[in-house]
Amino acid sequence: MKKKSLALLLTLAMVFAFALSACGGGSEEGGEEAAANDTLVVVTEATFAPFEFTEDGNDEIVGFDVDMMEAIAADQGLTLEWKNLEFDSLIPALQSDQGDIICAGMNKLAGDRAEKVDFGDTYYESDLMLLVKSDSDLAGIDAVTKDMKLASQIGTTGGDYVQALKDEGKIAEGVVLNQWTDCYLQMQNGDVDGVVVDMPVGNSYLNEHSDIAKFAGEKFGDHEEMAFAVQKGNTELLDKLNTGLANLTESGKYDELVEKWFK
Ligand code: ARG
Repeated sequence: MKKKSLALLLTLAMVFAFALSACGGGSEEGGEEAAANDTLVVVTEATFAPFEFTEDGNDEIVGFDVDMMEAIAADQGLTLEWKNLEFDSLIPALQSDQGDIICAGMNKLAGDRAEKVDFGDTYYESDLMLLVKSDSDLAGIDAVTKDMKLASQIGTTGGDYVQALKDEGKIAEGVVLNQWTDCYLQMQNGDVDGVVVDMPVGNSYLNEHSDIAKFAGEKFGDHEEMAFAVQKGNTELLDKLNTGLANLTESGKYDELVEKWFK
């Protein structure tokens, strides 16, 4: 009886060993699976050049935020996968476990964002600017009139700003859209009188469209501190990302990326 069960055990062990080898590197497959589980999902909204955007006819997300996060990930031995969502879905995505990291030129000081997710160290600072057509007479944000329409992105500091102007009766309409590219189009078409946008992003647009647009007046609104964010309480990941960012700054890689993306 004992012998029989031993034989059975041996046979089972052999079958198992064979099955493993038949997979042609079962351990490798296991490794891949483990890697897939370790992949962190970064959510962003990719119409915000030069922070994150896609090029015509291409789904690949590129930009400063992508290069920076990938460099941080490489430094910390992490693997990232990027997901393009609407801006006002980014925080809910982390809250509902659909993403691990937000990196989207997001101002960590705005509204109650910091109550919903945990932000890392500031990696870029920004202010709002008013973008208008080159032939516009609008002198700046304080010169807007009751008949005007201004566009910005929904759920952003700019979106809140134009909404507040509308609520205060200072403009006719705050047009809040899902994509920055649509805000620019509405301005080009004359559907709105201007676009309220982060200065570095307006600059990037003007680099390509100086013939059709310009900034009106000076920066305004609350000074912004952009940071990546993780789910509330995920201090282990946040510490890694902050350490990676510090290492990037130290090594000069951060400056290299600023040089590459902000002209
Ligand atoms: N800095 C602004 C904010 O935090 C706008 C960010 C928009 N980012 C984007 N990837 N669309 O509200």
